Amino acid sequence: MRTPIIAGNWKMNKLNKEADALVKELVPLVKDAECEVVLCVPFTDIVTVRKAIRGTNIRLGAQNVHWAESGAFTGEISAAMLKELKVEYVIIGHSERRQYFNETNETVNKRIQAALNYKLKPIVCIGETLEERESGQTEQVLYTQIIECLRGFKSWDFDRMVLAYEPVWAIGTGKTATSEQANEAIAFIRDTIRKRFSLKIADKLRIQYGGSMNGGNVKELMAMEEIDGGLIGGASLSPAKFADVVNYK
Ligand code: PGA
Repeated sequence: MRTPIIAGNWKMNKLNKEADALVKELVPLVKDAECEVVLCVPFTDIVTVRKAIRGTNIRLGAQNVHWAESGAFTGEISAAMLKELKVEYVIIGHSERRQYFNETNETVNKRIQAALNYKLKPIVCIGETLEERESGQTEQVLYTQIIECLRGFKSWDFDRMVLAYEPVWAIGTGKTATSEQANEAIAFIRDTIRKRFSLKIADKLRIQYGGSMNGGNVKELMAMEEIDGGLIGGASLSPAKFADVVNYK
């Protein structure tokens, strides 16, 4: 009953020309996809990609958003700016933001609020590091991230939200969580949402897995009961590889 959602995260890749070429090649390959297909592109590619996906089943996403309405925040992009460019989704709290740019659960919370104010759909990333997993803290870390990142949101806010469980140790490393590990973590996340918010919200909320997902492991991951999609980094940079993930059925 939850529509699967596969989103590509290009990160800091693709000049305009490359973005245009990639999307043009991708469009026919994914046109019959049975899941929702999203491309989260660099800010500078938004206009190019929006034109290239016009009339297709591909949705447009960005990779970050600032929480302020406007003002003296050099280098930042507001939710209103994304909305103006007809962006639909926005990744918030990616582990690379947390690791390199001082993103915290508190700033994630503010960014989600700003995105929701402009009717953008946040893809909220949470996940543990290798150290945290190995010291048995995975559930505690996920619990804290859920409580702090989602503090204050109402049931209707969740209608527009997607969560992504991304174990940091599996991102860009070629190390995928096993389907059981991913399913178990996502089941824990869903259970926490159920206890903290409601059964209805938990049942409806789509939770993706992210971390070295590709054409070779997508089938097994997507066969798991709790996994509602994927957030795809490396494999989204090639049309054929991304299509392999999207067409997992
Ligand atoms: P990866 O990245 O697929 O390259 O591991 C996933 C992500 O960072 O969202």
